Amino acid sequence: MESTKSLLRIVTTGSVDDGKSTLMGRLLYETRSIFEDQFESIRKTSQRRGQSEVDLSLLLDGLAAEREQAITIDVAYRYFETSERKFILADCPGHVQYTRNMVTGASNADCAIVLIDARNGMVTQSRRHAFILSLLQIRHIIVVINKMDLMDYSQSVFDHIKDDYLDFSEKLEIPDLTFIPVSALNGDNVTRLSSEMPWYSGPTLLQHLESIRVQSEHNRVDFRFPVQCVIRPNLDFRGFAGRIASGTIRPGEEIAVLPSGRTSIVKTIETYDGPLQEAFAPQSILITLEDEIDVSRGCMIVRRKNLPHVGHRLEATICWMDDIPLQPGKPYLLKHTTNTVKAFVSEIVYRFDVDTLHRKPASTLELNDIGKVEIQTTLPIFFDPYKLNPSTGSFILIDQLTNKTIGAGLIRGETTTLEDVTSNENSSQRKSPNILPAKLNIPMETRETRNGHRAAVLWFTGLSGSGKSTLGRALETALYERGCQTMLLDGDQLRQGLCGDLGFSIADRSENIRRAGEVAKLFYTSGHITICTFISPIAKDRDFVRSLFPSDGFHEFYVNCPLDVCIQRDPNQLYQNALIGNIKDFTGIASVYEPPAKPEMDLRTDVDKMDIQIENLLNYLESHFIIKS
Ligand code: ADX
Repeated sequence: MESTKSLLRIVTTGSVDDGKSTLMGRLLYETRSIFEDQFESIRKTSQRRGQSEVDLSLLLDGLAAEREQAITIDVAYRYFETSERKFILADCPGHVQYTRNMVTGASNADCAIVLIDARNGMVTQSRRHAFILSLLQIRHIIVVINKMDLMDYSQSVFDHIKDDYLDFSEKLEIPDLTFIPVSALNGDNVTRLSSEMPWYSGPTLLQHLESIRVQSEHNRVDFRFPVQCVIRPNLDFRGFAGRIASGTIRPGEEIAVLPSGRTSIVKTIETYDGPLQEAFAPQSILITLEDEIDVSRGCMIVRRKNLPHVGHRLEATICWMDDIPLQPGKPYLLKHTTNTVKAFVSEIVYRFDVDTLHRKPASTLELNDIGKVEIQTTLPIFFDPYKLNPSTGSFILIDQLTNKTIGAGLIRGETTTLEDVTSNENSSQRKSPNILPAKLNIPMETRETRNGHRAAVLWFTGLSGSGKSTLGRALETALYERGCQTMLLDGDQLRQGLCGDLGFSIADRSENIRRAGEVAKLFYTSGHITICTFISPIAKDRDFVRSLFPSDGFHEFYVNCPLDVCIQRDPNQLYQNALIGNIKDFTGIASVYEPPAKPEMDLRTDVDKMDIQIENLLNYLESHFIIKS
């Protein structure tokens, strides 16, 4: 039974003096995870210091420097268990200087306890921690509001902090967020329900930790095996050792070795305990292949038909961890899986203001700053976006001279440029192979400089009557009045001429959107802010249009309005006719609408007034540096 108990890896974060050590000490003490003599020793120390209660935080003060400076300085791991579950607790430092350790501690965790002092509420650091946890995709976050005893166990204090946190975390992706009011000092709601807070009806912290259901965070689909070393005990045996980063593999499966691209078949999978018929992440294994092909440390073995990205230009979110700020253009070492290559940051796209999550222009990143950057590596690396595969989607940056880790990076994807999306490889739609890419007469940058704004495609999608055209027109007017070069492309307008031959079948709509996208691209390359208002009901068609542009060129806005409100509005009596069968294939009535899964903005036209929407849109354009503020 002991061995079948599930394991929960917890990371704890908080600011100095939030009472983190006390909370952890109490968890350890009340789950009987400490020895008598340990308890006795801290009891005596507390007594000597004249404290009336036993100071449980002393249990955690393992490090001398921490005691001297009264701050926690490294990630310390503690182990405890209950009849339900086993736990590993990573204690991350609270001091502002030590974001680095928090990233380290959190990168392996299933869930996070975020401590907030009820007296202070949310502080900048709570926001930074929440942001880093969401970047690392920690799915379960427990916000423990501590020191409730010092705030008279007040429900309104708790509610206020909870609302603040919810407000902030709205912009983050946190699937499971729980709030628990505690007093770590007195033990309220830690392992025992408190009689002081009858207004709280949730579980204790321990009950909640016992009940969290964790799904394996390993990607099971994409087999990635970074080779750690080649084992060659004699001339007849050659095996490749390493830890599976993701996915599964069996003998007999066809593989490819990167970077050479040579292919072979898995002959055997060996482990210390004997051969395996199937291996999966995070097992450490040794693979032998049917053919003698060149494989060395730093290579990656993958399935032949499931390749990662291979490239040397990355777009990444970086958390800077060094006192010396990031220097664009300076060579650093980039360590990614078992591979280390030289790299430099070619551009800082923006820095996040962690208090507001707004993007700010930046020429460098300083200690604890988080920002989006573009990186170039001297040799290509084999990666997946962090969202799909944390182990092949993350890296660290190392200073070549001092060997210090100075940054942690999460890969968003490969950097795309206009040349990439216009290159001949992207020509699935082109019938003739003899059409060469035309060079722009006047470079886009030259036009953008003269215009005083960036080019962009703003794509509004939504049901008929949702308000796309109304919003698009108002936005164009606002931009035009600011002196911007604008263009408005609207469904009804394109269907007058260019798309006059198309009806409303799924295939015709798809062609309609393709043409609209291509026209938008012409205006984009001539420096316009191009506003497109099309129902564009099919996600795949919108994704195609997105693929025509560099990653910062296309912005999708979902004009979100419930169907019944659209039916009520019915400006041209189209719904009325569709409902009685006079219009075939009408979107929302007899034809599908697929809402965007991840639009850049979700605009509720049934809730917010037009001027607010326009203001939000203009703010969006400013914060993405499309127009100047
Ligand atoms: S899309 O589906 O291909 O993106 P598009 O935005 O170009 O559509 O055109 C939608 C406009 O065509 C609507 O605003 C409406 O005025 C008109 N229309 C005529 N028939 C239909 C229909 N069956 N479904 C949706 N819109 C229609």
